[in-house]
Amino acid sequence: MVDRSATELAVEAGAGSSRFVRACLRQPVDRTPVWFLRQAGRYMPEYMAVRKHHTLLDICRTPEIAAEVTITAAERLGVDAAIIFADLLLPLTPMGLDFEFVAGEGPVVHTPIRSLEHVQALRVDRVEELGYVAKAIEKVATHFAGPRADGDTLGIIGFCGAPWTLAAYMIEGGKQSGGDRNYIETKKMMYSNGAAWSLLMEKIVTVLVAYAQQQVEAGADVIQVFDSWVGKLSVHDYRQYCLGWSTELVQRIKALGVPVIYFGVETASLLPAMSETGADVMGLDWRVPLEVGWKAVGPGCAVQGNLDPIALFAPEDVLKEQVREVLRAADGRPGHIFNLGHGIVPTTPVESVIRVVEWVKELGAR
Ligand code: CP3
Repeated sequence: MVDRSATELAVEAGAGSSRFVRACLRQPVDRTPVWFLRQAGRYMPEYMAVRKHHTLLDICRTPEIAAEVTITAAERLGVDAAIIFADLLLPLTPMGLDFEFVAGEGPVVHTPIRSLEHVQALRVDRVEELGYVAKAIEKVATHFAGPRADGDTLGIIGFCGAPWTLAAYMIEGGKQSGGDRNYIETKKMMYSNGAAWSLLMEKIVTVLVAYAQQQVEAGADVIQVFDSWVGKLSVHDYRQYCLGWSTELVQRIKALGVPVIYFGVETASLLPAMSETGADVMGLDWRVPLEVGWKAVGPGCAVQGNLDPIALFAPEDVLKEQVREVLRAADGRPGHIFNLGHGIVPTTPVESVIRVVEWVKELGAR
């Protein structure tokens, strides 16, 4: 088991602590902090208005616009943290892999990685090209500097992918490589080409640590590591082929002096292994009852989650009861951050999202 206290010491020595950061470190808070996965996205008219004039990648690569989209979503919803508007796949470009977002299909990588030679050709020395994300974070940090009306400082979240999930996009080619795939090409390399797999994992970790460092230096208070498709792995295979690399990534980001949130989907059986990375916070999807998930990661880890994002389509009384149930399961213990179990989907009513924030503020008060 990895020591969690290192982050705590670094954070105490450094950044001013918001209720969001305090909860990440399992310190007492006046009320449960709340934010949402994919809080800036296609369900929000303000985002769609920007999207009308810019592609997704244009928004990500233009710090002024990325910052504006990030800030607008956080302010409209009244949440306690802002996640920088970016995408998981941005590091592929400086590594030498071209990709695009194809309407209706999602991300597509044009020349997927399939051999040791492909992996050897990947670049790890151009991470500074991702500096536009750090610039956007700087703008968000400047905007949210100092306490808000309630005296608390808004938390700023930077993020990156986890080695398994990023490798899955690079090897499958991205096309529909979401939760509905079998990851045959990725697992083939993992099982049968150890040299290629290890080198790929090592290169991804090298790039992501440098990328996370840029984000922390620009003002990110916390880094979230998205392992969105880790639930496609057996516990055995996760331990054998991925846990070591995830642990190295998490530990090296923690050494930058910020708490790390580690998030995946369909992780109920993987949670004990995932918590061995030493992440400060485990993001839970909605399939696992919060108290069961918390027990699985142990009392030394905070938890984030885990309302079903589709509950946001339920009538008000049903939705409020579900919010109450999540808070009841957390039982006011230090170290719970209210969130969804995965991202807000398009067509979600914005009013429902805002209502949930209001209820967490009311019902999650100590
Ligand atoms: O508000 C926020 O949460 C920050 C923005 C954010 C985006 N992508 C912007 C985006 C974040 C945190 C991500 C991370 C990301 N990107 C993940 C991990 C999070 C998760 O959901 O598990 C993944 C798997 C990706 C890769 C990716 N990007 C996919 C699979 C898609 C969907 C394609 C589609 O058309 O549905 C994207 C596109 C994307 N990234 C959108 C947004 C707002 C929507 C597309 C658009 O605006 O055109």
